[in-house]
Amino acid sequence: MGQKLKRMRPAAAYVIAILAFVLICFVVGRIPVGDSVSSPDSFSDSAQSDDTPWNLILVTNEVPLPEDFSVQLATLSDYRNEQVDERILQDLTTMLNDMEQAGLEPLVCSSYRDYNRQMQLFNEQRDLYTQQGMDAEEAYAAAMESIALPGYSEHETGLAVDIVSVSHQTLDEDFANTPEGQWLAANSAQYGFVVRYGADKQEITGMTYEPWHFRYVGQEAALAMQQQNLCLEEYLVQQGYAQVVNGETQSSMLDSQENE
Ligand code: DAL
Ligand code: ZN
Repeated sequence: MGQKLKRMRPAAAYVIAILAFVLICFVVGRIPVGDSVSSPDSFSDSAQSDDTPWNLILVTNEVPLPEDFSVQLATLSDYRNEQVDERILQDLTTMLNDMEQAGLEPLVCSSYRDYNRQMQLFNEQRDLYTQQGMDAEEAYAAAMESIALPGYSEHETGLAVDIVSVSHQTLDEDFANTPEGQWLAANSAQYGFVVRYGADKQEITGMTYEPWHFRYVGQEAALAMQQQNLCLEEYLVQQGYAQVVNGETQSSMLDSQENE
């Protein structure tokens, strides 16, 4: 028995070493260390087409911001200096003013975020799940379903705004039942915005339902998406700006079209 064990030990050690190496590679590649969050690399090479109109840019946990991405920001002065892409300021301001004219009280609680702010939010969510008993990998995966990875968030484009109301300031599904949530769901497309992460689109977007997260896509696209019940991924495929690869939507390098 002892002889047999001695003969098997090198092979077992070899297998264990391989498994340990694979595990270390996986952990180093996926799990945030300290303040940093690593990025999944499965779609890191998916090119954002230079020809995709700026308002239709796809940014998801699988599709990062282009490396050379930059945005000119403008400040929403009535909303604690929240900032957005300057090209959407007019439509957003008009929408918010019209809501107020209708007797509603919208509140922009988050808009443009830089990489570090997104990382902070992601890490807070991941840490919350860890404190609730998830292991590191589970917490990372669960956090990704509600907070995008830094470098992979629409908020970093300046085209996304989280809108709640003075009387309902929590980011939860009940916002959809408030007068502000209902008004936005019905009317925001007129101003170029869509509910980006719909309840019935979670399989496609990879994100949980967020009735407060509005993404600017321009009026033409927003109305088409609303009328056909398409999320951005579906609309981009329909319009030929993206393709589905292995079940994921990626920007494609198809023919250019004029901006809206
Ligand atoms: N909550 C959205 C998905 C974000 O973090 O970008
Ligand atoms: Zn948001």
